[in-house]
Amino acid sequence: MSLLIKNGTIVTATESKTADILCEGETISAIGENLDAPGGAEVVDAAGKYVFPGFIDPHVHIYLPFMGTFSKDDYRSGSEAALVGGTTTLIEMCCPSREDDPLEAFALWNGKAAGVSACDYSFHMAVTRFDDDTPGKLRRIVRDHGIASFKIFLAYKGAFGIDDHELYATLKLAKELGVIVTAHCENADLVAELQQKLVAAGRTGPEWHEPSRPMSVEAEGCHHLMTFAELTGAHVYVVHTSCRDAIEAITTAREHRGVKAWIETVIPYLVLDKTWAEKPDFEGAKYVMSPPIREAAQQEVLWKALADGTISTVATDHAPFDFGTQKHMGHPDAGKCVDAQFKPTGAGGNFTTIPNGIPSVEHRVNLLYTHGVAKGRIDLQTFVRAASTEAAKLFGLYPRKGEIAVGSDADLVVYDPEYRGVITAESQAMNVDYSAFEGWEIEGRPALVTVRGEVAARDGAFTGTHGRGQLLRREPTHA
Ligand code: URP
Ligand code: ZN
Ligand code: ZN
Repeated sequence: MSLLIKNGTIVTATESKTADILCEGETISAIGENLDAPGGAEVVDAAGKYVFPGFIDPHVHIYLPFMGTFSKDDYRSGSEAALVGGTTTLIEMCCPSREDDPLEAFALWNGKAAGVSACDYSFHMAVTRFDDDTPGKLRRIVRDHGIASFKIFLAYKGAFGIDDHELYATLKLAKELGVIVTAHCENADLVAELQQKLVAAGRTGPEWHEPSRPMSVEAEGCHHLMTFAELTGAHVYVVHTSCRDAIEAITTAREHRGVKAWIETVIPYLVLDKTWAEKPDFEGAKYVMSPPIREAAQQEVLWKALADGTISTVATDHAPFDFGTQKHMGHPDAGKCVDAQFKPTGAGGNFTTIPNGIPSVEHRVNLLYTHGVAKGRIDLQTFVRAASTEAAKLFGLYPRKGEIAVGSDADLVVYDPEYRGVITAESQAMNVDYSAFEGWEIEGRPALVTVRGEVAARDGAFTGTHGRGQLLRREPTHA
């Protein structure tokens, strides 16, 4: 299996240059001018196109039991969607409930991907309870399966959330193992208080989700995590950061207290604002995720922080729930409902019972290119850094992934910046009944996507092989 990509503009996190790339077997074997094609090689003319390293989405949910239901994708649809959109590696949150055994949970999550995924994958192992048996089990997951990152939730108390004793113990263990801890930062008690107050006042529609989780509540969660990271020395990565106040809580700790902390934002925050969640006829439920989509002014804050390197990565937090049935669990006419704490609300839904999440694994790269690069908000190097290279570096995959270099995996995206198209739910590969970006115009898309040398997508169509995706072994690098 050989592939020669000729005349493309190779774009990495550090440079752009015109050269050919030869892929032999699963890796890149040569980069240079006027390379010859070995016999039988497929030759792709990439003149006028960019060649990017395969994109990495470091925050997705494919299998997610959550709020009384399950996210809609499996690794068949999820990996297809990722690949047609240019994402060649997924890092999924493995999210057991508090009652579950971590080893069994890891086997369950891994079993959903193994033999099915068409793209490579790994997991952040969520710690949703910390008792005497937890350290031994987590050590085995890190050592035996190459899982070099944990996940913790400061939100969703009673479901995934942990208390401060557990938080301290998890960060201490992570520091000892050199594992980075990814964290959902919102103060769960404040969210619960505000939810109760709003619902009691009859403020029950999707538009009240944002006021129930204001920026200050997210910033408090970030500050809380920073204090624990400072005292344990653990390295932390704040997922789905939505706003200025949260960024400030993290950068203050980083700059003045020596905390090793990195910031992720996700594509919905960069392109949507909270008016989408205010759409009538319950349409706003499509835009309910946590932390919530903020006021429009926060978008420019995020773009600027991305451009200047304050934000390291752009992920999706892909969490697909059907609008017609699952999101409707938050409709006043819905029957049996549970909230994010898995507490039944009695009859009828409200904003606290809308499954949280926006499907976007398929569209992250194109939306980031269209609204970032094409609009001049970020340059090509920032684009590659934030959507690929930095995730590879932070999570122990570099330079196998996130780079175009001899010896790296031949995960490549030949990108056509001249393409023009429109996002529709009807044409998407994600297994969900709506698109949060319905009718949006896209400038540019992957013309060809390879995973370890195999062409896995062409011009928006999946051409890969289910089951070929590998669990990527990652070594801890955050001692
Ligand atoms: O709304 C969200 N973010 N849904 C997925 C679960 C999580 O918090 O990451
Ligand atoms: Zn989260
Ligand atoms: Zn998430």
